[in-house]
Amino acid sequence: MRRLAIFASGTGSNAAEIIKHFDNIDDIEVSLIVSNRTNAGVLTIADQAGIPSMIIDRSFFYDSNQLLFELKTRCIDIIVLAGFLWLVPRYLIKGFPNKIVNIHPALLPKYGGKGMYGMHVHAAVKANQEKESGISIHYVNERFDEGAIIFQASVPIGENDTAEEIRTKVLELEHKYFPSVVEDVVRKAF
Ligand code: GRF
Repeated sequence: MRRLAIFASGTGSNAAEIIKHFDNIDDIEVSLIVSNRTNAGVLTIADQAGIPSMIIDRSFFYDSNQLLFELKTRCIDIIVLAGFLWLVPRYLIKGFPNKIVNIHPALLPKYGGKGMYGMHVHAAVKANQEKESGISIHYVNERFDEGAIIFQASVPIGENDTAEEIRTKVLELEHKYFPSVVEDVVRKAF
């Protein structure tokens, strides 16, 4: 059995899709949800699915490497960032080499980096009158949104689409592709 930990700061709609995907698969499971926000929607999703969750604060995450110990103790194989807003510290990247995956709601290398998250991304895409946007699934390194790209998919943007409509289109792509790309990553890694 391969075991995933999902890190999420928000609603957790991607986490929900990933949980659903692996419900039907025998040899890979979502074993842990980690969040940095006590009121994150993803925690309710974890509860409903009967998956243990863990809340971390800044000093636990950055000033110690206890989280690495915790993940290894729970035999976690892969970390999936699904709307997780904190930069991943070096000890975790070293502890999980090429085994941390993130999804970004734009076509990297455009619209990535510090501060480019959530609606900030879609507002910038709209402001630049882009004709398309999309998703990028990539390995995580020590800089925001710069790790090697694993998968991208794009969607056309209409002239009159609002930033909110762009967000909806991009989120649909996330839900469609992220779970199966995560499965591919796990299967290739082991
Ligand atoms: C997604 O757009 C993801 O790409 C971004 O944060 C959002 C998370 O949405 N990194 P949800 O919490 O999975 O609904």
